[in-house]
Amino acid sequence: MHLPEFVEVVEVGPRDGLQNEKTNVPTGEKVALIEALAAAGLRRFEATSFVSPRAIPQLADAVSVLAGLPPSNEVLYGGLIPNERGYERAKAAGVGEVVIVGAATESYCHKNLNMSVDEALDGFGPIAARGRHDGIRVRANVSTVFGDPFEGRPDLGQVLRVVSRVVEAGIDDIALSDTIGIANPRQVFDVFAAVREAHPGVVFGAHFHDTRGLAAANTVAALEAGISTFDSSVGGLGGSPNAPGAGGNAATEDLVYMLAQMGIETGVDLGRLMDAADLLECLVGHPLNTRIGRPLLADPDADG
Ligand code: COA
Ligand code: ZN
Repeated sequence: MHLPEFVEVVEVGPRDGLQNEKTNVPTGEKVALIEALAAAGLRRFEATSFVSPRAIPQLADAVSVLAGLPPSNEVLYGGLIPNERGYERAKAAGVGEVVIVGAATESYCHKNLNMSVDEALDGFGPIAARGRHDGIRVRANVSTVFGDPFEGRPDLGQVLRVVSRVVEAGIDDIALSDTIGIANPRQVFDVFAAVREAHPGVVFGAHFHDTRGLAAANTVAALEAGISTFDSSVGGLGGSPNAPGAGGNAATEDLVYMLAQMGIETGVDLGRLMDAADLLECLVGHPLNTRIGRPLLADPDADG
């Protein structure tokens, strides 16, 4: 099996995870969580989102979260945005990266952004240009690539059309998302192989939800298709309020564990990651959605 030596893990828990929690986590605790995750070695975050506070009240404190984070040359703090208003707020807050969200399917796009797929894509070019001008990295996140909660799976032609429009907008860093955790490994391999073949200069990342327990299998399929950037969420929290039936994201602990066992570097210390997960469990007040826990970390092959 041909595998990368290093995988970049993008921690989306402070955004995808917390946007789906009933408990409103205080700003200072969000900052403490992100700091604990950075201390575990995570270097790239969706730290929050700059969306309508009516859409996602849990992240209405986005500006304050960014203000609370220590400046760092090593850690990239990003925020998800739906439009130019979000870009302006994110820039003013001092993000290093914006993640502009679109979708591969009409039903979810309307529900989540109140726009058609093409209307959402129309916003990408101007934001990419502003990002280049301002020195802010711009990543795209295409939702519902593998299935939509209301209309099923988009065909590969539609996915390729949407991805081409993102690339034409001037964005070369694109996450393809399984928003409702409906993807299977064969589909994942085929989609990533096709987009990579069509756009060899673009960095594609995978964003999986583990709704049906296939996130790990889908991760391996994406690795085999040459993907080496993966979004995950500490504690396996996550989901969009506009995507009924979405389960949590691939858990960062499970992802890092699997990659480490496969001999793939992530730069993340699993013990310290568990410390951050313990903090998160206290903050949200319910058990986390992870398989790997401290007892399973004990290595039966180790001496003593
Ligand atoms: N940040 C903060 N507020 C914003 C905003 C942004 N990026 N964009 C719009 N708003 C505000 C508007 O000022 C307006 O406020 P008001 O009602 O107090 O005047 C309100 O939100 C509605 O704005 P409008 O332009 O009419 O948009 P809309 O109602 O069609 O909603 C979005 C469109 C994109 C703003 C909204 O659907 C959204 O934020 N979606 C993101 C959902 C999300 O984060 N999902 C999970 C992650 S994928
Ligand atoms: Zn997600």
